[in-house]
Amino acid sequence: LSVDASSQSGRKIPDTLFGIFFEEINHAGAGGIWAELVSNRGFEAGGQNTPSDFSPWTIIGDETTISVGTDRSSPFKRNPVALRVQSNCDADACPSTGVGVYNPGYWGMNLENGKGYKLILHVKSLDSVNISVSLTNSDGSQTLATTNIVASASDVSDWTKVQFELFPTGSATGGRLQLTTRKKGVFWLDQVSLVPMDTYMGHGFRKDLLSMVADLKPRFLRFPGGCYVEGERLWNAFRWTASVGPWEERPGHFGDVWNYWSDDGLGYFEFLQLAEDLGAAPVWVINNGVSHQDSVNTANIASWVKDALDSIEFARGSADSTWGSVRASMGHPEPFTLKYMAIGNEDCGKNYYTGNYLKFYSAIKNAYPDMNIITNCNALGTTLDHPADYYDFHTYTTASSMFSQKNVFNSAKRSGPKAFVSEYAVWQSDAGKGSLLASLAEAAFLIGLENNSDIVEMASYAPLFVNDNDRRWNPDAIVFNSSHVYGTPSYWMQHYFRESGGAILNPATIQSNSSSLAASAITWKNSDNSEFLKIKIVNFGNDTVNLKISVSGLSNSINEVDSFTTVLTSSNVMDENSFSNPTKVVPVQTPLTNANSQMDAVIQPHSITS
Ligand code: AHR
Repeated sequence: LSVDASSQSGRKIPDTLFGIFFEEINHAGAGGIWAELVSNRGFEAGGQNTPSDFSPWTIIGDETTISVGTDRSSPFKRNPVALRVQSNCDADACPSTGVGVYNPGYWGMNLENGKGYKLILHVKSLDSVNISVSLTNSDGSQTLATTNIVASASDVSDWTKVQFELFPTGSATGGRLQLTTRKKGVFWLDQVSLVPMDTYMGHGFRKDLLSMVADLKPRFLRFPGGCYVEGERLWNAFRWTASVGPWEERPGHFGDVWNYWSDDGLGYFEFLQLAEDLGAAPVWVINNGVSHQDSVNTANIASWVKDALDSIEFARGSADSTWGSVRASMGHPEPFTLKYMAIGNEDCGKNYYTGNYLKFYSAIKNAYPDMNIITNCNALGTTLDHPADYYDFHTYTTASSMFSQKNVFNSAKRSGPKAFVSEYAVWQSDAGKGSLLASLAEAAFLIGLENNSDIVEMASYAPLFVNDNDRRWNPDAIVFNSSHVYGTPSYWMQHYFRESGGAILNPATIQSNSSSLAASAITWKNSDNSEFLKIKIVNFGNDTVNLKISVSGLSNSINEVDSFTTVLTSSNVMDENSFSNPTKVVPVQTPLTNANSQMDAVIQPHSITS
């Protein structure tokens, strides 16, 4: 392998090259990165007509002691459903545990000894109340933290907001929140929230999951989907206006592609905040009036276009603009830096897409000329019939096809819109729930993107997250449940590309008989001016490959002490990580003792080596 590291032969890789794509799929957000522990906190998940299903809330008590149902007495106009709890027993006539309801969260709440939890709820009653609020283990037999709401009738005759901080004295990964009473009477509950006090940057995200993301050093964050943006039907598509403002007032919606309810606590504002916290450029995917099964005629699209312009004003407008003031009221008076918008997701060719796209494109460019607009229409090997700054390219395929696709952009036109590979992954039998094989092919593909980064400016793996209790899509990069998390090999593969954005790509030529190799070389400087060279080699084949590596043109000599080799491999190419063995397939770093401009390297079968 010969690497030409001279400054004159290198080319800068776009700063944005590798980022992440977050979709509300697999409970990635609700019951995932968004740290809210209460599932169906507003009792709206069963729909706005009552009586409705209020699960996963569950009744404590039997038919003689308690009746629970929904009605439309909520103080919040956009989410009218509240829970009515009627205790039919008093004092000793009630079971010792009391009667009431509990919420098990999303497949159990992770309650940790000594950590703080903020509980907010809204309550109303025509009588005085004595409600016991507790955090318990999974069957309620062990109380980990408890407090009481004791109030006279006049205190709670109107809806009253109550807040507590709770500190469990024990831990449970499948815990629950219980609200019980031993007093006869009726009370109503609405918007019940329980959130750990320690969240990522204090902005409401689960710390363990976000630190995995931050470790990837993503340069952009594409959000909030995917198919989630489109909806199976338009009435179930993500609507940003319903996802901003006070959390209690958000109506929530049923995502009908991935089939679950989201209270939209993780809304448009929170995505912009997350991008800022990660130092990643937000890429806002907006619905352009096209879902999986219906679409708005271009003749009727004007209000959707206005809605898109409003979303930009929300992100970028001054704090005294109409929508900028809503953002400011949510705690972010300074504008967010929003420079990328995708018009739809996988909608090219669907009814009205091009007509609608053109309306969005011209209105956005007219008002915000610096906005980069991404079309769903693939321009690889063809010329678009509409203007765009970027075109979306999605690929889900077999391992061998992904490996071959490392060359797919070699013959692409060098002019026109740039490519945004916004979703890629090996899937189905080659991937299982995340195999080493899949990660090898993907690494080769990304090497191909680095080599073509004069026209490919952005790329992200998909999907990013899966809650193991709701696997709507396999494989995914990061797997979690209420308390544990691990990366699949495809997650760890992305670590090899963390320094690529903004680095210099140096020509790397493979001299080998093996057709199973892919390689690239980059150089970059850290803030202290120290210079680094990273060579990545993927061996997709079954055989060990002996390579002579020769590096020319470096301005400094190679420092052995600071040189490392990092290898991702395993004994079986179909090996996966799991909760019981989360580090079976992870990169292993060792000192590179023979670091020099001329090196002999032994590249293991089925490996990624740097
Ligand atoms: O990543 C999962 C899905 O795959 C996305 O929602 C969609 O864009 C693609 O079809």
